[in-house]
Amino acid sequence: MDAAPSPSSQCRYSYDEYKETADWLLAHTKQRPKVAIICGSGLGGLANLLDDKTVFPYTDIPRFPISTVPGHAGQLVFGRLKGRECVCMQGRFHFYEGYDIHTVTYPVRVFFLLGVETLIVTNAAGGLNGSYNVGDIMLIKDHINMPGFAGQNPLCGHNDNRFGVRFPCMSDAYDRGLRALAKQTAEEQGCDSFLQEGVYCMLAGPTYETIAECRVLQMLGADAVGMSTVPEVVVARHCGLRVLGLSLITNKVVTDYDSNSKANHEEVLRTTEHRTQDLQKLVSQLISKI
Ligand SMILES: *[C@@H]1O[C@H](CO)[C@@H](O)[C@H](O)[C@H]1NC(C)=O
Repeated sequence: MDAAPSPSSQCRYSYDEYKETADWLLAHTKQRPKVAIICGSGLGGLANLLDDKTVFPYTDIPRFPISTVPGHAGQLVFGRLKGRECVCMQGRFHFYEGYDIHTVTYPVRVFFLLGVETLIVTNAAGGLNGSYNVGDIMLIKDHINMPGFAGQNPLCGHNDNRFGVRFPCMSDAYDRGLRALAKQTAEEQGCDSFLQEGVYCMLAGPTYETIAECRVLQMLGADAVGMSTVPEVVVARHCGLRVLGLSLITNKVVTDYDSNSKANHEEVLRTTEHRTQDLQKLVSQLISKI
């Protein structure tokens, strides 16, 4: 006879599993980063800027999931950026790949157990705000967790107090101090003309949005839309990490039925290549100030 379903069976991973991954990493590198960076689609080049690199393909790390998207390398890179120790996820896990929401966020709790205090997340996103241009960099000031509305919140299930409280606050998810620092840094390096600040809305994907969906998201107050980031941020805030989020606006969403333009992944990758340098420079300058 099958065991009766219990609420705890919905919690994919135990504390000990995250700990096993973290301990393995701590045993295999001397680096003790305080900053973790999750690189979005086409933005993995940031990891190449690190000095004194130690690289772990995801396939080598005990219990680590494996990435499947083109444009995502799938490795964890430890090293120094402007002298500061950090760890970069080159390739993230997306819900649309078929990972459950706990697996998508698995690395964040590992970072926490490594002693990381600040999480920087980057992504490629579609611009919903009419005043945004392709190539703009948007500081995320807030998010709309659409999969969360549909019951896909990574904190569903048993709460382990060693990570955080049952009902974590999300009104301060994107650290005000870090955003101020990012704005100041952008000004210093002359990219404030294409720096925006707005609300990121996550959809599960993998389909891009319909015209009607885009119009709904605009009405809800979202400035950019994408298929990542929010679950990781929720888990990071739960365990007390400070978060900075940056979206590269790689396309403008279609909101007009007479338009002939279509969203496509190649366009996203091309644009990221173009503005990637600026974004990388911004992040590395910023890290030297944290
Ligand atoms: C779009 O972005 C601009 C500039 O950040 C902002 O002032 C505006 O409130 C945003 N929203 C809409 C609906 O235009």
